[in-house]
Order: sequence, then C-alpha cells, then structure tokens
Amino acid sequence: MRKAKLEKSSDIKIIVVDDEKGILDSLSVIIKRLGYQYEGVNNPLEAIERVREEEFDLMILDFLMQPILGDKVVEEIRKFNKDIYILLLTGYKDAAPPLKAIKSLDIQGYCEKADNFDQLILLIESAVKSVYQKRTIKNFKDGLNKILVTVPDIYRLKSINELLEEILGHIMSFAHCKNAFIIIDNLIWSGKNESLFKGIGTYDVSLDKFIEMLEPSFLEEMGRTRTLKQVVYLENGIILPLMSDTIQTLGVVYLETNKIPVEMELLRIYATQAATSINNVYLHSIVSMKNDELDRTYNELKQRYLDAIQVLRLTVDAKDVYTRGHSDRVAYYAVKIGKSFNLDEESLEKLKTAGIFHDIGKIGIADDILFKTDKLNESEYAEIKKHPIKGANILSAVSMFKDIVPLVKYHHERIDGRGYPFGLKGDEIPFLARIISVADAFDAMTSDRQYRSKLDLAEAKNQIIANSGTQFDSDVVEKFFGIAE
Ligand SMILES: [Fe+2]
Repeated sequence: MRKAKLEKSSDIKIIVVDDEKGILDSLSVIIKRLGYQYEGVNNPLEAIERVREEEFDLMILDFLMQPILGDKVVEEIRKFNKDIYILLLTGYKDAAPPLKAIKSLDIQGYCEKADNFDQLILLIESAVKSVYQKRTIKNFKDGLNKILVTVPDIYRLKSINELLEEILGHIMSFAHCKNAFIIIDNLIWSGKNESLFKGIGTYDVSLDKFIEMLEPSFLEEMGRTRTLKQVVYLENGIILPLMSDTIQTLGVVYLETNKIPVEMELLRIYATQAATSINNVYLHSIVSMKNDELDRTYNELKQRYLDAIQVLRLTVDAKDVYTRGHSDRVAYYAVKIGKSFNLDEESLEKLKTAGIFHDIGKIGIADDILFKTDKLNESEYAEIKKHPIKGANILSAVSMFKDIVPLVKYHHERIDGRGYPFGLKGDEIPFLARIISVADAFDAMTSDRQYRSKLDLAEAKNQIIANSGTQFDSDVVEKFFGIAE
C-alpha cells in the first residue's frame, strides 16, 4: 500500500513584480530551483493586467515601485481577485506599509529584501502549502457537490448494466482516469447466477477476454481488497471495494492511475453509495423474480380451473349434439363484435370466456326436458329458463369467473324487458351481456336444432334486424352486421 504524497510539481505559478532587474534575476533562479513556475514583471501596471488575464497562485511584490506603490497594486488586484496569495518585499523596515494596511489588503506576509533570501524561501514554502490546502478544500467541495448531483441518478431504477456503466463513468471522472472496470459477485440476476462485469478503455472487452487479462497476483489483490474491505493501492492503480455499512462486499472497482486522487475519501463515500444502489437493483430483481413466480403459479391455477370447467362444458356438448360447437362460435362472434366497439383486452377476454360458458347452466336441466322435441309445456319451459341462473351459480363457485357471472346470468334478457330470468330493461342489462345475446341468437338461428332446421343467413339477419331495439341492443346489431358483411 502506498501513501498519497503531496505533489510538488511545477503546477504552482508564481509572479514576481519588481522594478529592479537584479532582484528579478535572483528570484527567478530561486523559484525555479524550488520547482515552481516563474514569471517576472518589472512594471507594476503590467503586473495588474497579467494577473487579470492569467491565473497565478502566488505574487511576490516589491513595495517601493514607480509609478505606483506595491500596496496600490494589491488594492487594484483585490478588486477582481481575492484568491491569489501575496507576499510583499520591502527595502527598509521603515518603508513598509502600516500593519493595518497589510491586513486590510489581505497580504499574507512581508519580508525585507536580504542578500540570502532565506526568510523569503520559508515564506514561499509556507504559501505553497496554503495554496495546496486551499486546492484540497476546493476539490473536496467540488467533489461533494458532484456526489450530491450524481447520487440521486444512480438511485433511479434502471437495468444493472446501465447502472454499472453510470457508476464507472462517475468514479472515473472523480479520479481523472481513462481505464477502469467494475466487477460484481456471483448473484442471482434475473434467474441467472453470473458475475457482472463492465469495463471502459482497455478493459472494454467481454468477460471471457477480461478473465484472460487477469494475472494471478492481481486476482490476489482483488481478493485482499474484499477481505480487508479497504482500498488497495497498486503500482498502476487502485482497487476500491464496493460495500456499505449494512451489506457485505458486492464487488470491486479498479481504476488504472499512477496518481492517487487527493480526494480518496470522496471516492470511498461515492463507492458506498454505488454499492447501496447496486444492492437496491439486486433486491428489486429478486422481488420481480418472485412476482414472475407468482404469475406463473396463478396462471397454472387458472389453467387448472379452465380444464375443470372445460370438462363441464364437454359434458354439456356431449349431452346435446345439436349445440356442439355452439359455445365456441358464440365466443368467436362476441369477440368480433367487441373488437368492432374497440373494447380493451380485458373486456374481449370476458366476452370470450362468457361466450364459451354462457349455457353451462344447461347441465343442471333434466335430459327429458332439454332433449324434448315436442313443444315444451309451461313448467318445462320455466325449467329451461333457469339455465342462466344455474350457470351463474356454477361459475360463482370459482372466484376467477366472478367477472363473467353477470354476462352468463343476463344473456337471455331483452332490451324491452320481456326477457328472462329477471326481465331487466335497456341499460340495466350489462353491455357485454347484450353482445353475448346477439351472438347467441345469431348462431342458434344459423345452426340445426332438434326441433327445427337452420335458417339461411339472410333470413337470420332479417329476424335479428326485426327484433333490433326490442330483443336486441340496436347498436350491437348494427355493429354485428357491419362486420358480418
Ligand atoms: Fe342460453
């Protein structure tokens, strides 16, 4: 593990302002030897313009200059730049500006010009330290702002692959690196047990290719990161564990960089948030998996009910050769009519099921009445008229058919109120039941029955039109013949 070391490179820019060329030359040598960038200006007015145009970290300024004094220069600069660090050089003790002025102009230090500049070097080093501290504070502030902006994004629900890509992008921009990858443990994702991997830059490869790239020593370091739950620093990169206080390590992020980001703590904070958001997506995937399972179970149960009912229906059809196939055709016509009214899928499904089961109640009617070819007497007819209620009762036993119970119960009601079993009128009859009624009547007329032969299409049409508005809903009749054409 390496310690982050304070970088001392030429990214510190120092401007020196003095009208004595000898002083500029000496300071040029000293500053460059200290490893900083040097800029010398001998005109105080020009110095003001240079600071306005370019960013400097530190200004070393002579006090006694022409045409304006050093404190005047500072006064001008402070009008537009509060950040630059300023050290004032004085020729003689008694020529220094008063302490009050030094303080009010935010001059960070002053010293006398001396032959060996030791005091000035100490002041420069201390100023540079302050500049670095200021930069670190600013980086932290910017980094925290970035985290505040990016974290809500990763908590928005999305696919795990999108999330990993987003997290990697954020971390790479925090650490200013170009090659990185993220790898998540074996978890059950969408029913599959697999490791998730996302790489950017040189790691933008398939998982298989990526595994080939890994050296044993690197794998060991990844393992160490996970067991220690700590950042591990390598020669060319950093391995961050993805974990939060409440969950175990989910995986790691590797950033290829030979510079340790100053804001390591921010990266750790972000990694904790990232791990939590990954865990959220994982939990969500488990919940939807459970939902899928429930859906499957529900569908299986539904199928079993349908099978059971199918047996009942076949019993009806077996009882009566004349009605065989009738229920399927009623369902077919009813759905056609429903579609022409632009009904939603749920309503169409109800029409189909109700069409299939509308006469299920007939299994409760005695065979000698059901199959009688002679004219039925009054009590026998009253018995037949019970089939909608008997059917409704059969279907009521199964909760999943509760929506079609009214359709079965009212399929023999008439608009004019002269239908059975309740004598409902007009809008009192559910709309879908009015559709079943037309489909049922049409198919009954166009099929052979034991007591009569089928009518031809034109005759059936005439009969239905003749009863439109009395027996049948006129809108349904109109739509039906619209599609029948
Ligand atoms: Fe019926």
